[in-house]
Amino acid sequence: MTEVATEAAPKSLTPLALKDAPALIEAVFPAQKVSFEAQRERKAGAGQTLTALGSYWKGRKPLILVRAIVLGSLLPQTGDAEADLDIFEKLMAFDDEGLARRALVQGSLKPKDIAARIELNDPWSYFNHNVKRDDSLFDNVAHWTFPFDSDEEGIKLRWRRDVTEEDKLFLYRKALATFVSYEEKALLCKRPEEVDQKWLYDSVWPAVNRHYARLGINAHSFPELMEQLGILRYGHRPCVGDTFAGGGSIPFEAARLGCDVYASDLNPVACMLTWGALNIIGASPERQVEIEQAQREVAEAVDCEITELGIEHDEQGNRAKAFLYCLETRCPETGWMIPMSPSWVISKGRNIIARLKPDHTNHRFDIEVLNGVSDAEMKVAEKGTVQDGDLVYELDGRTYRTPIKTLRGDYRLPDGTTGNRLRRWEKEDFKPRLGDIFQERLYAIQWITKESLNTSRQVTFFAAPAKDDLDREKKVDAIVAENLRCWQEQGLVPDMAIEPGDKTDEPIRTRGWTYWHHLFTPRNIITAVAVAQRIDKNSAIGFCDLLNFNAKLCRWTTSPKSSGKVGGRTGGASDNATDVFSNQALNTFYNYAHRSAYSLLESLNQPYRDRGQVTTSTEVNNHEAARPTSECELWITDPPYADAVNYHEITEFFIAWLRKDPPVPFNQWTWDSRRAFAIKGSGDDFRRGMVDAYKAMAEHMPDNGVQCVMFTHQDTGVWSDMVSIFWAAGLQVVAAWYIATETTSELKKGGYVQGTVILMLKKRPEGDRAGFKQRILPAVRAEVQRQIESMMHLNEEIKDKHGEPVFNDSDLQMAGYAAALKVLTAYTTIGGEDVTSFALRPRTKGEVTVVDEIVQQAAEAANSLLVPEGLSAETWSRLSGIQRFYLRMMDMETTGASKLDNYQNFAKAFRVQDYARVMGDMKANAARLKRVSEFTSRELTDSTEIGPTWLGHLIIGLQQLLAEVEPQAVIQQFQQDLPDFMEVRPLLIDMLRFMERKAPEATVREVAEVLGARLKNLRALGQ
Ligand SMILES: C[S@@+](CC[C@H](N)C(=O)[O-])C[C@H]1O[C@@H](n2cnc3c(N)ncnc32)[C@H](O)[C@@H]1O
Repeated sequence: MTEVATEAAPKSLTPLALKDAPALIEAVFPAQKVSFEAQRERKAGAGQTLTALGSYWKGRKPLILVRAIVLGSLLPQTGDAEADLDIFEKLMAFDDEGLARRALVQGSLKPKDIAARIELNDPWSYFNHNVKRDDSLFDNVAHWTFPFDSDEEGIKLRWRRDVTEEDKLFLYRKALATFVSYEEKALLCKRPEEVDQKWLYDSVWPAVNRHYARLGINAHSFPELMEQLGILRYGHRPCVGDTFAGGGSIPFEAARLGCDVYASDLNPVACMLTWGALNIIGASPERQVEIEQAQREVAEAVDCEITELGIEHDEQGNRAKAFLYCLETRCPETGWMIPMSPSWVISKGRNIIARLKPDHTNHRFDIEVLNGVSDAEMKVAEKGTVQDGDLVYELDGRTYRTPIKTLRGDYRLPDGTTGNRLRRWEKEDFKPRLGDIFQERLYAIQWITKESLNTSRQVTFFAAPAKDDLDREKKVDAIVAENLRCWQEQGLVPDMAIEPGDKTDEPIRTRGWTYWHHLFTPRNIITAVAVAQRIDKNSAIGFCDLLNFNAKLCRWTTSPKSSGKVGGRTGGASDNATDVFSNQALNTFYNYAHRSAYSLLESLNQPYRDRGQVTTSTEVNNHEAARPTSECELWITDPPYADAVNYHEITEFFIAWLRKDPPVPFNQWTWDSRRAFAIKGSGDDFRRGMVDAYKAMAEHMPDNGVQCVMFTHQDTGVWSDMVSIFWAAGLQVVAAWYIATETTSELKKGGYVQGTVILMLKKRPEGDRAGFKQRILPAVRAEVQRQIESMMHLNEEIKDKHGEPVFNDSDLQMAGYAAALKVLTAYTTIGGEDVTSFALRPRTKGEVTVVDEIVQQAAEAANSLLVPEGLSAETWSRLSGIQRFYLRMMDMETTGASKLDNYQNFAKAFRVQDYARVMGDMKANAARLKRVSEFTSRELTDSTEIGPTWLGHLIIGLQQLLAEVEPQAVIQQFQQDLPDFMEVRPLLIDMLRFMERKAPEATVREVAEVLGARLKNLRALGQ
């Protein structure tokens, strides 16, 4: 056989041929594109694939990020990083073809957009126009070619009926090529998972198979590719494990791609959601129909039961949509009962309010519901009876104000905490007792009219409760009073006490609620029982979603119709009850809303979209991360860290309902949050828990297995914690990437961007290696340099070809950290101390460990390599953090970058104390530095961070020149203020030369040139 013939024959897969081959993700990763797509996925809100299972689980990792990690960990490097990246991007649908297909499905480019953007000689092969035959323009138009502006020409374009998908795609490709950045293109696209996968990837497989032909890859779908890559690396299809599975994104995406998965979590609610991701969202379309049917049946039965009870219908046959309740308390001054609410506005869209009307006979207020009131009356109603922590109301022309603290009877306990005189509710309570400080009162009902009930345009109205309504309330109370104990015994209603905790203290402290069922109105309880009696594995998840909207912790919200001003919300008015976990806490409210069963049952009417079927083997377990029961080749985890959500506490809200009688197969799990075992915080216990977990995972991984850990990027302290944990677990870092997963968080204002670090780890080779700081430091520096330089090199090449570099500065910086950790985690002892005991040793507050030092040095080594273009390395090496930050960002702004997380990351890396003080704007996507002319003199004094620096002096000098001060006077000022003026003069000149090129305002560039020239001339003049 000739050699040529051998090459041409399709090669078969050789198991374990890639056994020790480094993974693609160790060398390249399109972090910017993944960041962008991850943020888009987040912004899709309810459109995210797994939110259908429960929006109360907030921390799901974006699926696109998981997909990139799984692929990057299994694909090999071929020695051609650029070509590898190209294939990787194709597989992620980030390449031009993928973008064109995704944009086509979105239909984002209209014929007129295409006409304006591309060159095309035969537009009428694709489009029709609306010029009539008898129009003089008609003959002319026949010869027109693209581009042209159809609006300007006054003609309308439409796709021809006979145009094929292939034709459209051809034009979309051309049109997309006229957009410069990836982001501009991707904004026109559907997310990859929203597009039919077979069609999206049709053209990708030949390229993939060609690229990996040498390895015998021949795949036509992701499951085939995963299986083949698994055989090459591990001898079989890979298994992806996650022992902190939470909402299940990691196992779900890995399974959807075609890997076997093993998922576990300490929390049974997390297990249930993960199970749901794999077995409901990932179910076959036929099975999904079955599940939907089962859920519908439950909903219908519940609806019948509630209707029969007659507690949600009035005599006319109207059906309640929402019941609005408020607390009521006795004013200690007047003895009157005062309804409590921070606002009495019921509907902003319809100008509906509740108004208090004194009832002098009974020393209480009637509550009227008024429709269509004036704006002035709305304004009055906006001020409720709870204002700034006080109970405030008016009676007979006099205003009474009592702090809520006083009403509650707050007092100091010996341990310094605050107690109060609220009666602690008991197990048999389900509403306040007579004489309790806080009573509860129904004040309005939203009704759906009988006629519109079963139509798509329901008509609703609000009314104060009439006598019949109050009778129905009594009936509801009576039903609960009669059945509560029995329901509790049967496990249909919680009988579990609320364990105090960070989040669970609030209901106890502010309302005296001590059992979980106290968080529910009698109506809430009746609806929940009706559902709980009927749930099975198909509907238990929907039941929890329903509970999230069915408690006293649901606030009433109303918003007016929005005019749709730029940047504002658009859309109709809305009046609604929020969900309990809208902010991941257990907040109590003075007024709250109960959604009727009618509107709640929507949670059980979820249509599941066909978003890819899971056909591989999956296992979901409920145990500690330190006790995995399966071997996995790839562990991908997102552990709880520091400010992570307190899942272990807040999910007790659901556990309380399910724990006594969970449906099969959830009954195999422990229905307890096991708070004591939850890994939390960032202290010594946290490190111990993490080491146990990661050690166990490493032990359940073959020698060539890979781990990926995601955590929030905070400061260098996090890095040294993480390094000691992985170190002690016997793992070695091989790469790190930074993904901006969230642009802004409403809860954490003030320049807060959440970024995720992706840390890749492998088992540390056997054998001892002793490390000492003095020896490690130079090795760290060398590795940082090697890593950054090789990435910069790839950047140059890709930028030349595609116009955009692949890595930005944050990626390079992150790679710097990773390089340091790579060196560091190769050792087994450090300064004579065993790494495990180092990791587990308790830290004293403020202690700087040898690892902290080394990580910091690595960050500095990375930063010193990231010299902004146009500044000399010598100058750079002498600048302090804030100066480096300002100049580095100034350079970055010239490329149009404006993402706040870049500023945030660099501020951390340069150890800037308060970068906000040199920022002109801190919007997530429109951040920028303060311009030279924007600094006030107060911001440049010696007591500020930038004021005393050379750059601070230069900024003052430039401002003076802008104010027409003579250059000579400015220089004299420098001579006075800078004792080593002559020595630093070259450095000032270098910085000015840099600003002359990079400052955004022309006037500043001009004065920088003038000042620089003057400083240079000093030498010429011999001064
Ligand atoms: C940050 S969340 C994971 C989120 C998940 N990746 C997702 O996309 O939804 C961390 C998870 O760790 C779980 N957890 C905390 N301590 C644990 C322990 N000791 N063992 C196992 N799981 C634990 C929590 O219940 C929580 O679900």
